[in-house]
Amino acid sequence: MTHATIESRLRVWDGEEIVVRFDRPAGAWIIIAVHSTRLGPAVGGTRLMSYSSFPDALTDALQLAENMTRKFAVMGFPRGGGKAVLFVPPLFDQSQRVALLERYGRLLSDLGGLFSTGPDVGTAPSDMDIIHSVAPGRAFSRTVTAGGCGSSARPTALGVFSAIEAACGVVLGGSLGGRSVLVQGAGSVGSALIELLGSAGADVAFTDVDGERIEAWRERGVRYVAPEAAWSEQCDVLAPCALGGILNRETIPRLRCRIIAGAANNQLGEESDAILLEEMGIVYVPDFVVNGGGAIAITGMEALGWSPDEAEERVRSIGEVVRQVLRSARDEGITPEAAARRLARSRLGSGREGEGSPRRSNASDPS
Ligand code: NAI
Ligand code: PHE
Repeated sequence: MTHATIESRLRVWDGEEIVVRFDRPAGAWIIIAVHSTRLGPAVGGTRLMSYSSFPDALTDALQLAENMTRKFAVMGFPRGGGKAVLFVPPLFDQSQRVALLERYGRLLSDLGGLFSTGPDVGTAPSDMDIIHSVAPGRAFSRTVTAGGCGSSARPTALGVFSAIEAACGVVLGGSLGGRSVLVQGAGSVGSALIELLGSAGADVAFTDVDGERIEAWRERGVRYVAPEAAWSEQCDVLAPCALGGILNRETIPRLRCRIIAGAANNQLGEESDAILLEEMGIVYVPDFVVNGGGAIAITGMEALGWSPDEAEERVRSIGEVVRQVLRSARDEGITPEAAARRLARSRLGSGREGEGSPRRSNASDPS
């Protein structure tokens, strides 16, 4: 991406603030993107990872921040969307980690509540403890020992489970019993999801690239599918719980599933890939509807005083939102992605967000 395209990307971005700082001691870029504070102060994860370029890191932050706005809006949760990226060098010296997180925490503190954060790819509850130590109240999902609620993986998995259950009901009819589900990525969320699906009587298989994880789940009797074969695996549900950008022109034609619903953020390569999936007869449940359980449960308990039971009930209600989105998509001849974006937009009370949402070419979006 050239300077000109960075400039045009920033010009069209409909978010509120972008804070960029080069952290010289660690050689890292700190990028904080606040997409919307319309429903409340912005909340979103902090990614700590390496990218091939600054524009890639910036683009990731902008897209993920937008997704957080939609995630909270579809659930009617009183927080806005943001995301932070700590773009570290490829051979990042981990002895620099604590100091980098402290400097980042001080920056969050200086921003005076504009953005609060939780764990994301490359960060964990222990990192939130470090941020909290210099910026109290700015980091969610701290360790239980430090007074937080710990990892968000379980509530995220419960939300994904509720979404899969609801989607199967609407699209295929009946319960999850005997339905085949392929979980892509048996990490923190994927593992908890495999357990939940197994308890509900689903026929679960998984794919992963990590030797230890593969071995551990195989030993527990869960069927393993090699990563390349996973794309063309025939199943009722594919649950992407590994990487973003996986649904694209290269992978979509190979898919043989009926429904896609998983935890990974920004699964569509392009917004228009939602139409490609629709044309293949695959029901894609938008990731921002499916994967909000962790952020909502943790923020609800730590910032809004929810009890664990209340948090669980709210997470399970993702199933109801999925039913609503799939039914309105079906009734109005638009894709679930378009229906969910419209729901988010209506909650945000604005006509701007998500303009140009994908829809079937022969249908008109009444919004
Ligand atoms: P994780 O890092 O614990 O697990 C990811 C798993 O995917 C790992 O086991 C990894 O080996 C596997 N993997 C990587 N590349 C793969 C490939 N090409 N094919 C198959 N497997 C592959 O991450 P976590 O926390 O479970 O999150 C999973 C996804 O869900 C991420 O995209 C994350 O951004 C998203 N997410 C997570 C939330 C949370 O609460 N942890 C909340 C919302 C979204
Ligand atoms: N990684 C979470 C997400 O993408 C962000 C988060 C976790 C926010 C926990 C708050 C608390 O939804």
